[in-house]
Amino acid sequence: MTKKLALVTGSQQGIGFGLVKALCKSFDGDVILTGLTEQDATNACAELEKQGLKPVPHQLDVRDQESVDRLRDFIKEKYGGLDILINNAGISFLAEMMRARGAEVPAHLAATSRAEIAAETMKVNFFGTLRVTTAMTPLLRAHARVVQTTSFGATQLVKRMKGDKADALLRTDWTTPSLCHFVDQYIKDVASGEHTSLGWPEDSSYLLASWAVWNLARVQQKTFDEDNNDVIVNAACPGITATEITNFKGKTIEEGCESALYLASLPHEASSPRGEMVHGKFVCGFNSAPPGLVTSEELFKN
Ligand SMILES: NC(=O)c1ccc[n+]([C@@H]2O[C@H](COP(=O)([O-])OP(=O)(O)OC[C@H]3O[C@@H](n4cnc5c(N)ncnc54)[C@H](OP(=O)(O)O)[C@@H]3O)[C@@H](O)[C@H]2O)c1
Repeated sequence: MTKKLALVTGSQQGIGFGLVKALCKSFDGDVILTGLTEQDATNACAELEKQGLKPVPHQLDVRDQESVDRLRDFIKEKYGGLDILINNAGISFLAEMMRARGAEVPAHLAATSRAEIAAETMKVNFFGTLRVTTAMTPLLRAHARVVQTTSFGATQLVKRMKGDKADALLRTDWTTPSLCHFVDQYIKDVASGEHTSLGWPEDSSYLLASWAVWNLARVQQKTFDEDNNDVIVNAACPGITATEITNFKGKTIEEGCESALYLASLPHEASSPRGEMVHGKFVCGFNSAPPGLVTSEELFKN
């Protein structure tokens, strides 16, 4: 009988590590844990092996097409398909978070320019998610569940953007090429230093990437629906979780895993959520905030 398979990207620490741990206990199949290096992945798997769990280590850098292709080929040869894909790999620059709150940025963090932050954040969080999903889509089995990682903070962008850029956030006719073009334009406008006068937000690359990933899930669900294979994709917002990204402030990793685990285990033919942003089991929108959600502003105000 074919062995089922789950893949969690960026899982050598933080929420991704928690997701692998939880899936090893609850999912009826193998779980791949990925690290930026083979050694990172092997070390993280060794930690879980001490607890009697048996994740499968693999190297993955979502910025690198060859790395993604190697993982795809490994999955194809060893398993023949994929049942759960959680695109969890992501980065956030502390300098951007500090500037967004008007805090003084220490010299060693200030060395990274706004242009570099914009390009690198998009490269990992948005283009990395797109690259991995595109590579793995031919391997997705019927009833596969895909989870992209986003942040509810993305909905706050409407307050920070102007003119046609703010209007664009609310559009519902995005396609993958138009989303890529929009994101590329942002990167170029930050590099030229004209972004704020053109309506883009200041110090919000992470949130813009989160918005783009949320919309990517919407677009991808439409494509999956055409195949009639009951593949469901949603974007999970973990909520502020105590990991390296938040300087270890926020809820526990187990709590931060709840949204993605719920979406990864949606039953066959679930009618909803599909192509949505979900926190816990709550479907989020520009005008619908999850009850009790702690925002990063609230958490970091002291
Ligand atoms: N924590 C929160 O409050 C929060 C809130 C909303 C959304 N999120 C999102 O949740 C996801 C997990 O974040 P986290 O909080 O668990 O942070 P984390 O502990 O820093 O984990 C992020 C993981 O992604 C990996 N990664 C970074 N760049 C990568 C690349 N190019 N290719 C492959 N893997 C890469 C990191 O590798 P290294 O270990 O080598 O750095 C790390 O293992 C991210 O997408 C984040 O944006 C987090």
